[in-house]
Amino acid sequence: MVNYSVKVESVSKVYKTAAIEVDALIDVSFALRQGAFAAIVGPSGSGKSTLMHLLGTIDKPTSGEIYVDGVPTSQMTGTDLARFRNKKLGFVFQAYNLVNGITAEMNVELPMMVNPMVASERRSRADGLLAELGLADRLKLKPTQLSGGQQQRVAIARALVNNPSLILADEPTGNLDTKSGDEVIRLFKDICKKQNVTIIMVTHNPDLTRHCDHVIHIKDGRLDKEEKRY
Ligand SMILES: Nc1ncnc2c1ncn2[C@@H]1O[C@H](COP(=O)(O)OP(=O)(O)OP(=O)(O)O)[C@@H](O)[C@H]1O
Ligand SMILES: [Mg+2]
Repeated sequence: MVNYSVKVESVSKVYKTAAIEVDALIDVSFALRQGAFAAIVGPSGSGKSTLMHLLGTIDKPTSGEIYVDGVPTSQMTGTDLARFRNKKLGFVFQAYNLVNGITAEMNVELPMMVNPMVASERRSRADGLLAELGLADRLKLKPTQLSGGQQQRVAIARALVNNPSLILADEPTGNLDTKSGDEVIRLFKDICKKQNVTIIMVTHNPDLTRHCDHVIHIKDGRLDKEEKRY
């Protein structure tokens, strides 16, 4: 039996404002295997970020359900939802979204603060991950003292630190030059293989999707096409 880490079932999202209603997603269904490196592609305004917000439990579908590791997410609220998000999900953003006033290693420690761990354990886990991502000599620097590519690697370490099942990355290479962008993609590919984490990335760059084993094309809020190369 195939193990799916993410199952999107007939998901629709309607944004209602005073003036208009927008059908941002219409009856979208797909499933991703555990450890898949997936891309979501499509024109601007097609619903990619909306889908990422739903997958990240930041927002809820108007109808349909999203399962992560077999758990339905749409009815979760409050501390249950916060705990689920912290334990199961990791986020990587286009603009890195690191906390600027503190060091790289402290940024990576942040998601572990809610775990029952002693401080030295948190520190060694953060430092170990940053070293694996090639930042052993940058632990004590603040984000503003790092290059864009280095900041994104800190963000990836932060996303990985609680051993999530799913990492969500909206345009993770959008602010990077080609070389740093390629490095991020190579890291993602590596992480999927070695740690069996599922990664979903939104990208505008069709070149980058050749590294992915599942590509989801969204058009006008609908699933237009799927490519699977498992
Ligand atoms: N909070 C909101 N309220 C109302 N409409 C919204 C909201 N967020 C997004 N939309 C609309 O939903 C549609 C999909 O937007 P979304 O941000 O998901 O697109 P996208 O595919 O991520 O685009 P891009 O590639 O430009 O980032 C758009 O028509 C947008 O105007
Ligand atoms: Mg978007």
